Amino acid sequence: MLSLENIEVSIGGSQILRGVQFHVPEKSVTCLMGRNGVGKTTTLRTITGLLRQSRGRITLNGRDISAMPPEERARAGIGFVPQGREIFPHLTVEENLHIGCVARGMKIGAGLDRIFTLFPILKEFLPRKGGMLSGGQQQQLAIGRALLTEPKLLILDEPTEGIQPNVIDQIGDTIRLLREEGKMSILLVEQYLDFARELADEFAIMDRGAVVASGPIANLTEEVIQAHLVV
Ligand SMILES: Nc1ncnc2c1ncn2[C@@H]1O[C@H](COP(=O)(O)OP(=O)(O)OP(=O)(O)O)[C@@H](O)[C@H]1O
Ligand SMILES: [Mg+2]
Repeated sequence: MLSLENIEVSIGGSQILRGVQFHVPEKSVTCLMGRNGVGKTTTLRTITGLLRQSRGRITLNGRDISAMPPEERARAGIGFVPQGREIFPHLTVEENLHIGCVARGMKIGAGLDRIFTLFPILKEFLPRKGGMLSGGQQQQLAIGRALLTEPKLLILDEPTEGIQPNVIDQIGDTIRLLREEGKMSILLVEQYLDFARELADEFAIMDRGAVVASGPIANLTEEVIQAHLVV
């Protein structure tokens, strides 16, 4: 459903991505992995249109989105939960939830009830400022905000980073549920190996700005892990 072909990206004169190439199959969970600083976030920001590639092509369901601005990619069905969550700390939970849809000119329909079923704490905290929430609750808010836009491809950048184990489990359950519903494809950056193994159908590992291994999660062998993931 999503394909990256030979993507090159430079930031401030230094080349960060050196021909990134991988595929996210329809209705699957694909886990993008790799050590710190290899270019995972840069790859996601390039897919969402926040960064522009100097070479290469990105297609979504066969349609070339390489030249589209971020808003148009969002309307085409790409939802993004950035690393560090990036919720608005001075807006309420309710305002934070609405803002993703407002930005896309969408109405929130029955979507909110579903978000409250997935993350009941958000309903309870609707009038609270986003900044008052714990890290895990902010992560749930960021995922809820992205889901309200009803993406075809949900992209999550390290959703488990810096949050407590019980919330990690809850986020894992949510991803599993979304996968079972079979309405969207999910691209997940994750450093936590067990979490990736439990949830992913496919993996791609990056090293120094390129994908160096990819395939079905069963092919993520100890040898591959030793070569590309162990620090
Ligand atoms: N805005 C920027 N200006 C300069 N260099 C940058 C910028 N953003 C990223 N880089 C560099 O690009 C490289 C890849 O960064 P990126 O954030 O994509 O890595 P990552 O794989 O997501 O790492 P992490 O696991 O720490 O999140 C790093 O060397 C980083 O220092
Ligand atoms: Mg990153």
